[in-house]
Amino acid sequence: MVKADVIVDLQAGDTGKGKVAYNLMNQYGAVMRYNGGGNAGHTIHVRKNPFVCTDKPLYTKVITHQLPCGVLGKRMSIIGPECVVNIADLEAEIRGLELQGFSDVREHLMVDYRAHVVTDTHLEEDGRDVVIGTTKKGIGPAYMSKIERTGIRVGDLPSHNFKVCDVIDVFYNNTRSYFQFPFEDTIRVLCEGAQGYQLDVNFGKYPFVTASHCVSGAVCLNGIPPNAIEKVIGVMKVYETYVGNDPEREMKNDPWLEKIQELGGEIGATTGRKRKVNWLNLNEVVTAIQVNGVTEIYVNKIDILEKVDKYGVYADGLNFISTAKQFQKFVESFIKERTNVTQIRWSRSAQTL
Ligand code: IMP
Repeated sequence: MVKADVIVDLQAGDTGKGKVAYNLMNQYGAVMRYNGGGNAGHTIHVRKNPFVCTDKPLYTKVITHQLPCGVLGKRMSIIGPECVVNIADLEAEIRGLELQGFSDVREHLMVDYRAHVVTDTHLEEDGRDVVIGTTKKGIGPAYMSKIERTGIRVGDLPSHNFKVCDVIDVFYNNTRSYFQFPFEDTIRVLCEGAQGYQLDVNFGKYPFVTASHCVSGAVCLNGIPPNAIEKVIGVMKVYETYVGNDPEREMKNDPWLEKIQELGGEIGATTGRKRKVNWLNLNEVVTAIQVNGVTEIYVNKIDILEKVDKYGVYADGLNFISTAKQFQKFVESFIKERTNVTQIRWSRSAQTL
């Protein structure tokens, strides 16, 4: 039997999903990426040696693009059928991790044979984009080929430097050869999303969206049925960031927002572009919680607002709140009064939850 929990971004990406996924993955038999491709950039601080006790644990900073975070912790890691894959970049990402000391990435990685391949033609086409402000990773053109039914799937390639799988086999038919669970027959899968609600091709601000489905429902396009989903873990941060060409989301001339951008290190992990910062929009977050069926939330980067010491939030209009404590209370009540979420956790660290 398969049971799944989902990690979903409640804003426009870059909320810290990678950190949440990495810190939770030990509870699962497998981690699966369920949308997008190399447009994602998950920054993860990997604990170097959990067996050495020091006051300050040592961390290695790792940025993943296509790889599920499970490869960093010896978890079975699946790139799901709804993803698109750039084979050369995937190889470079694996090699990069091997150079950083993660020697068994290939051992734990599997790519579903149905995932579509990002080709050089897709990259060239996306490279010409001036309208949307894409990451230029060929994502839109690759999904276009898929829908046009002219795409190439991973399973069509003559050879591979990674394991190719069929998620049906992994989850339903041949489970024991993939997972050595002596006592339990349930496979628990952590489904790791990419991008975010505001970039979803249906629910984002079209056309300034990505080409994939970023909502929790997209998990079900990867062989996980709706009734297998237990928790939907929403990840958000205490302000908004956006990367792209939407003229309505240009960054305002505001020294507080500029300070947040600087102290929050708001620079794209994939493109190196500066992220445009705005105050948290709670009305949009509430909608994202509803559409994604979120059951619990992690809120990241309250430490950054504390450093800036300015607490703006759009909640039926722009409000400024005096202290971090009051801000937290305000956010929690706004969300809890309007949704079924009861658990909201605040994270102050780039490494841990
Ligand atoms: P694409 O996904 O490269 O086609 O880009 C479409 C839009 O989504 C652009 O505004 C990108 O900046 C944005 N985008 C894509 N992936 C991410 C991400 O992982 N974080 C933030 N923005 C993203």
